Amino acid sequence: MNPISHFSKSILERLYHRWMRVRVDRIPVDPRIRFPCYQPLDKFIDVAGFQRLCPSIEQEIRNQMERQKELMFDAGPYRLGDKDPSNASASVIWLTSSSSAKGYFQLDRAELWKPSDESLRFQPLMDFIETLPMKQTARVLLIFETPGHAAAAHRDHCETGVCHEFIWLRSPSKRFFCLNHRTGERQYIESVSAWFDTVHQYHGTETTDELSFSIRVDGRFSDQLRSHIPKNNFSPASTPSLWASLSNLVSVN
Ligand SMILES: [Fe+2]
Repeated sequence: MNPISHFSKSILERLYHRWMRVRVDRIPVDPRIRFPCYQPLDKFIDVAGFQRLCPSIEQEIRNQMERQKELMFDAGPYRLGDKDPSNASASVIWLTSSSSAKGYFQLDRAELWKPSDESLRFQPLMDFIETLPMKQTARVLLIFETPGHAAAAHRDHCETGVCHEFIWLRSPSKRFFCLNHRTGERQYIESVSAWFDTVHQYHGTETTDELSFSIRVDGRFSDQLRSHIPKNNFSPASTPSLWASLSNLVSVN
């Protein structure tokens, strides 16, 4: 591609992504939702079992870093700051891989994903993932930050009609926030596990002095877990936020 058409393409892409961000902000959500928010899932998982695994996961990440140059995590095109780099120094280990998943919207299709070679080094974690309240799992990512590094605040995508079901787990040192970009308010995830709205609100990490990591397991929730999720008559992507906001109302009152 010649430099001028490449330049035009990048401007058009940037305008498109900016327009998509504006469009998401115009999609109505349930008026009871209060951003930022996240839904803890600790009561549905074996928290102690996961915490017991954390030191060995951390050690395996360190081993992996010595073996090969890790892959940079790409925060994608919907970053809060246009000038934030897409690979803002967080790193990723793919615990499942797919040769046939096309684009971002097939990350929950279990039939398209299989354990990666790297997952063999994280077998206790893979066994733990089998115990999560999910009917099936598909993409599994381990994202980590070394001291001084962080992931830029971003949305995962802008399709408000798509609600990805995933369980997110974190190491104790992970400083991960959900952000209301209108007010600047950040809510840090304090639970060990969570589900959160990745479309209507931004999310990202802050630097710490330690190695920190999180694991995102995409797929389909079990029927038992789904039975706790409130019906959402507005944007499907906002469903985790509706659940979180209603839970907060219950716990306050
Ligand atoms: Fe994200």
